[in-house]
Amino acid sequence: MPKRHLITCALPYANGPIHIGHIAGCFLPSDIHNRFLRMKGKDVLFVCGTDEHGVPITLKAKNEGKTPQQVVDENHIIIAKGLKDFGIHFDTFSRTTNALHHETAQAFFKNLYDKGVFTEDVTEQFYDEEAKQFLADRYITGTCPNCGYDNAYGDQCEKCGRASSPSELLKPRSALTGNSPILKETKNWYLPLDKLQDEFLNEWVESRKSSWKSSVYGQCYSWLKEGLKPRAMTRDLDWGVPVPVKDAEGKVMYVWFDAPIGYITATKEAAGADWEKWWMDPETELTHFLGKDNIVFHTIIFPAMLHAHGDFIVPTNVPANEFLNLEGDKISTSRNHAIWLHEYVEDFPGKTDELRYALNSILPETKDADFTWKDFQAKVNNELVAILGNFVNRVMVLTDKYYDGVVPLGSNTLDFTGSKVKIDEALAGFNQRQGLEYYMEIARSGNKYLQDTEPWKLVKDEANSQVVADCLFTCINVVKEIGNYAQIFLPETANKILGLLNLTSYQEEIKVGHKLNKPSLLFEKIEDELIAIQMEKLQKPKAQEVISVAEEKTVAAVKSEIVYDDFAKLDIRVATIVAAEKVKKADRLLHITLDLGWETRSVVSGIAAHFSPEDIVGQQVTYLANLAPRTLKGIESSGMILMAEDADGKLKFVSPADHTAPGSSIA
Ligand code: MF3
Ligand code: ZN
Repeated sequence: MPKRHLITCALPYANGPIHIGHIAGCFLPSDIHNRFLRMKGKDVLFVCGTDEHGVPITLKAKNEGKTPQQVVDENHIIIAKGLKDFGIHFDTFSRTTNALHHETAQAFFKNLYDKGVFTEDVTEQFYDEEAKQFLADRYITGTCPNCGYDNAYGDQCEKCGRASSPSELLKPRSALTGNSPILKETKNWYLPLDKLQDEFLNEWVESRKSSWKSSVYGQCYSWLKEGLKPRAMTRDLDWGVPVPVKDAEGKVMYVWFDAPIGYITATKEAAGADWEKWWMDPETELTHFLGKDNIVFHTIIFPAMLHAHGDFIVPTNVPANEFLNLEGDKISTSRNHAIWLHEYVEDFPGKTDELRYALNSILPETKDADFTWKDFQAKVNNELVAILGNFVNRVMVLTDKYYDGVVPLGSNTLDFTGSKVKIDEALAGFNQRQGLEYYMEIARSGNKYLQDTEPWKLVKDEANSQVVADCLFTCINVVKEIGNYAQIFLPETANKILGLLNLTSYQEEIKVGHKLNKPSLLFEKIEDELIAIQMEKLQKPKAQEVISVAEEKTVAAVKSEIVYDDFAKLDIRVATIVAAEKVKKADRLLHITLDLGWETRSVVSGIAAHFSPEDIVGQQVTYLANLAPRTLKGIESSGMILMAEDADGKLKFVSPADHTAPGSSIA
């Protein structure tokens, strides 16, 4: 039994916000594990932060005309806020640009340097003569020697996942200028992974064979089988942690050297002087959560560093997840095919558990998974609303009705020990999907029990009063059980249930005579309209800063040909905006009233981010008048205001060159 548990969640790059792929890959799994262990009363530290070095950030800064520091400052705030709003609470959410981190990473580097761990090598590195700088791996693209993909990066092929070095790429190109780079001499410091493989990694990885996921072990095994090579831990670059040794001016650490040390920095921030026990005491269990593209760094490179240093423990487990796709397609930040966390929490206020639930139920634990909005809606409506929420609500309403909300004198006839053991086993083995299923079984059995017992029928006969009291006493305890385990899976709901039960903690017992609070619903149905808005959003990729190397422009795809009859079906008119106001609880929506000449129309339009209501009154617009009406946020919206959208995603009204009588037709 470990004495304490240190949980890390892969530090997201601060080159952009985070999306549901990150959540399913590591944030949600690590959060569930953290909540699980804490509920079991374990001593836990849960750390993360933003990974703020690395070449993509410098590329992004260049593209946006900002400094790298500005880029990471902005993104750190967005990421940290999104996670907080989503209910993921780290003991520390650190940053790799902070001074303590630089100090920690430099001390680590210096330690290896002083021990003579690194080998020094003067090599020829790719150099862009036009840009006058050495090219980091990410600044070089070329053809992957493994799979032939022609846009592979110098350090890794995103197609087949193979990590490589730039010199292995066929037909290398500079990302700065597109030129073929030349080779130029430079000195760098290498971690001798070949030596560390023999000395440590082979045996260590083998010893983990039965405890690690087979996918994780398998990846390590194939790496080791191929034979590791020394890997440069320094780079000729001006963004990163400066290398603290002689002859290293102008060089920084390889981002994958400093980033995992960020876990140590975060621990120092969280635990202060007490940090060492978390990293140096073998009785600490260290678990790294991450996505599969990070496996090699956490099972080979970082452990090799920790081992070479000598003072540190190495991870017990690295439960990496596979990837999450979205609507059948790979999530892509450059195509904006993603659901961004900070947007979700804005678009669905108070609905964090809904997304947690939907993602938890499809976590890509053993293979890639696919998120669809339809499935999200179905999971919320058919499971959270119809099963869990419905059961809790019925229990609350019946208790209110029969006993004025006071817990009746009865005895508990249901026992969930079996389910709880199953949940615990599943979660301890990182089978979090399975854990959630076992959890829902509690709600399902509660529902079934209530349905079978039918207290609403029994109550009519005074002779049954004890049966009714037993039934509700039992159900109230089931509600508490559901709330208790919701602390792991559905934390917002756990709080709400605690409120309904009028308890201050789940340690408290439900006593006869205890007064419950008034019923209120835990979940509401997700209407089709809300899903339609999200689908629409996905169909409309915003032009986003391209953070990868390739030059990419987002232009709306040319649609396929139609005949005149298709066009003639559209009733397009000039209309004048006569009133506009924000829609409550929907940041993106404006409620607009249009004058059409012969009548006014009400339209809900997703343009609130672009225009303020007072500025657009009087504006003439192009209006699709015969689009079937639909209801958004309880407001009927008929037709649609047509907008022009430029490549930056800016919206403009399309209006006649001169003032035109409202209602005039456009054809
Ligand atoms: N920033 C990396 C990524 O998003 C993960 C870094 S994890 C750490 O893929 F170990 F280096 F911190
Ligand atoms: Zn490849």
